[in-house]
Amino acid sequence: MKRELFSSKIGFILAAAGSAVGIGNLVAFPVMASQNGGAAFLIMYAFFVFFICLPVMLAEMSLGRHTRQNPHGAYSKIGQSPLWNGVGWLAVITPFMIGVFYLVITVWIFGYLAKAVMGQLDTLAQDGAFGVFINSNELYVYMAVVIGLTFLILQSGVKQGIERAATYLMPALFVMLLLLVGYVLTLDNAMLGVQFFLIPDFSKINVQVLTDSLAQAFFSLSLAMGILITYGSYIQKNNDIVGAGKMVAGLSLLVACCAGLLILPAVFWSDPSIDPSQLTDSSIGMIFMVLPKIFLALQQDIGFFGASFVASFFFLLVFFAAMTSLISIIEVPVASLMDTKGISRRRSLITLGVVMIALSVLSALSFGRVEWLTSFLSYGGADKSFFDVIMDVFYYSILPLNGLLLCLFVIYRWKKVSLHAEMREGNPGFEGSLMQKYIDVSLGTFIPAILAVIFVLNV
Ligand code: PFF
Repeated sequence: MKRELFSSKIGFILAAAGSAVGIGNLVAFPVMASQNGGAAFLIMYAFFVFFICLPVMLAEMSLGRHTRQNPHGAYSKIGQSPLWNGVGWLAVITPFMIGVFYLVITVWIFGYLAKAVMGQLDTLAQDGAFGVFINSNELYVYMAVVIGLTFLILQSGVKQGIERAATYLMPALFVMLLLLVGYVLTLDNAMLGVQFFLIPDFSKINVQVLTDSLAQAFFSLSLAMGILITYGSYIQKNNDIVGAGKMVAGLSLLVACCAGLLILPAVFWSDPSIDPSQLTDSSIGMIFMVLPKIFLALQQDIGFFGASFVASFFFLLVFFAAMTSLISIIEVPVASLMDTKGISRRRSLITLGVVMIALSVLSALSFGRVEWLTSFLSYGGADKSFFDVIMDVFYYSILPLNGLLLCLFVIYRWKKVSLHAEMREGNPGFEGSLMQKYIDVSLGTFIPAILAVIFVLNV
């Protein structure tokens, strides 16, 4: 089968930015920034994005384009050993499992979108509403819609599916985000939120914050999930990978900043004396428990329809962001099955779809509905649900491990010269540049070392 490619560099940038811009940028980032010193966190995060994450991102894209393979194919083609073959499988199973938990969260977002559109803000804003919603039967209707949409897009292939979805959804997302930021900034006390976000408090920074923010940057750029190897395998030879990678990292950071300027002013509008760092400890808490209350309060200002409209607009924005990320992560196992088994896209999707639905339903049932799934395992002094276990194992532990293995693989097995040769395609000026030297040194030394530390700390 001939491999389908993205039609242009911009098509690739939009698809990769679609993967990178997700719940991580829109919600997790503002929550973490508000807890950890505002702009102090932002500066650190931006540093990590460009100095630690970008080299890894470029390495993944280059590896994908060079091998024209999914992550497993890439590792086994170059690695030529059982060890690298195993690492390749890990690089496919990880995105598959992260895809399961991301799917569940996307379904919740879609459910909240549907309810906001139906004008049910008062229900959503009640205490305990989220717990009721995630254990309701209607959740499975929303799940069917989200899975159906995702698989429909993926079924249409790289150009007509992934690229086309990104070309519509990403510009829409940027416009919606800017409109929402513009609106929120006109609200009373919005400037308190802007100040809170932009005035750095360096006293909050410690080792834990450092590792958390690096992990967040890593997750947010979709690294170590095989996504950029897979998308990289669809880039045309004459496209400049280095330029594209910088754009993707920059766009993702820009969206995170805008999200900070959206969420914090909204929080201060609802209560000018608030300490946002005490508001909620998680992005899930922010999207599903805090924001609905703010939207409901907005009703007094702009009425029922106005508030429902703003809430729907917000959830649609987050839903678009989540969908383009979800598509990218499911494409990894889809491409892997197609490449290794030589089967069609449709057969690959059906096979994976069955397993994915089963695992997502099990995860969705693990929030209190089914006892053994709710206390699936017990470690670290607490009962962990099936959903928690997937997150702990794949997101917190295996993700940094995958990143670490990738760096070692690229520099010591694939070798620097091959990496340079791939990055030079479409960017002849890369050879001998400062960027090239930095990538060589960093990927071979301190980036894997830092990832090793995060891996050990998290395990
Ligand atoms: N950038 C995405 C986010 O921040 O939400 C990263 C991502 C995570 C993509 C999980 C896909 C995914 F399944």
